[in-house]
Amino acid sequence: MLSYQQSKAFYDRFGKKQDWQSFYEDVATGALIRNGEFPNASAVLEFGCGTGRFGERLLEGHLPPNARYVGIDISDTMVALAKERLARFGARAEVYLTDGSPQLDFGAATFDRFVSNYVLDLLTFEDIRTVLQEAWRVLSEGGLLGLSSLTHGFTAMSSVVENIWMTMHAIRPTLVGGCRPINLLEFATEPRWRLRCDDKFSKYGVPSEILVAEKVAIG
Ligand SMILES: C[S@@+](CC[C@H](N)C(=O)[O-])C[C@H]1O[C@@H](n2cnc3c(N)ncnc32)[C@H](O)[C@@H]1O
Repeated sequence: MLSYQQSKAFYDRFGKKQDWQSFYEDVATGALIRNGEFPNASAVLEFGCGTGRFGERLLEGHLPPNARYVGIDISDTMVALAKERLARFGARAEVYLTDGSPQLDFGAATFDRFVSNYVLDLLTFEDIRTVLQEAWRVLSEGGLLGLSSLTHGFTAMSSVVENIWMTMHAIRPTLVGGCRPINLLEFATEPRWRLRCDDKFSKYGVPSEILVAEKVAIG
């Protein structure tokens, strides 16, 4: 696994090249948009916003005009790119640099959507659990969690790609951006989350999973 520092260094260098990953990510993030009920949202937090591409898609075509978007990322380069890309949305879009901690610097029940695309798959299992605890805390009751990530192969071709991916990750994690396949369903579990949708996609053999779950208030 990459440390926060290694992750930051990698994505600071990678910068705009991240958008090339859209060749396999867009099929999954498109499904996330269709299932995330964004036309009813008022405040979205994106963890690991990268170049701001997903935020731009939401603000441009899927959020109501008065909804706001906040993106956070560990990489200075990504924060600068996302700020530049989202500048035309004025006060509706904010982007902040973090130190990579899964603890979020936002109050309870501040957002009604929490999204993260292809970021949890480069965190430790412990950090993934903390991010989801924090997502639960910052979401209002009934708010939606929307995740996409690399996942395990589920067809002959995607299983071959998963094996190649894991081999590269074992040789040097930065060959694959530090990411490795995970199973999102293991993390967003009852009683805190009510599953709305869990789906898998394979594009050019790269297996992705999306998950949408509703925050359930627990006593
Ligand atoms: C694979 S990229 C995905 C970017 C974007 N979500 C997308 O789908 O294009 C991973 C992103 O997560 C960011 N990142 C990595 N570790 C992070 C952490 N601990 N906290 C916040 N952002 C992180 C990286 O800087 C990078 O922008």
